[in-house]
Amino acid sequence: MLDHLTVVKHPLVQHKLTIMRDKETSTAGFRQLLREISLLLAYEVTRELDMTEKTIETPMCTMQAPTLDGKKLALISILRAGNGLLDGILELIPSARVGFVGLYRDEETLEPVEYYFKVPEDLGDRLVIAVDPMLATGNSSVAAIDKLKEAGAKNIRFLCLLAAPEGIKRMEEAHPDVPIVTAAVDEKLNEHGYIVPGLGDAGDRMFGTK
Ligand code: URA
Repeated sequence: MLDHLTVVKHPLVQHKLTIMRDKETSTAGFRQLLREISLLLAYEVTRELDMTEKTIETPMCTMQAPTLDGKKLALISILRAGNGLLDGILELIPSARVGFVGLYRDEETLEPVEYYFKVPEDLGDRLVIAVDPMLATGNSSVAAIDKLKEAGAKNIRFLCLLAAPEGIKRMEEAHPDVPIVTAAVDEKLNEHGYIVPGLGDAGDRMFGTK
């Protein structure tokens, strides 16, 4: 069982994150780093997956070899910024099933508004990894996980790049059964719900929309 909160302190993750935070980093650079960091984070969030053994023939002999057990994972991207993390993780786990939850944040109320929901069937039989780079107020993450649970998901992990203490607390209260894996926990949220020091708007940084 993963801890409720895992902060991935690996030097490569921390180094790449620092470059991503730098406002001088280009859109192309940001995207590339996000791809690289998501591979490293995927490694952590997939720790302690159920394993079984199967019989294989090596060129030398027959052996009982470890292999992943159960159905393929389901990766759920919380749109739109989740897609930046998703792409890298799919390189590591190409057979994963993929779903999308479309939520945008009402800039005045900071409450999530759903506009899209499409997820694989049998979510209840799969490990579900929900991805969103920024765990800020936690409102959209909690809403997305509410929806995933309504759709049958029972075994969920949440992967982000940066988390604010407020978002972690909100997730802990609403979904204590969902472990969070992140590269860093920042100081606070500002009055607009942005993470400080943070890296700005993750979607804008990765897609160059601002
Ligand atoms: N979403 C972002 O993209 N950045 C923040 O700092 C908070 C929410």
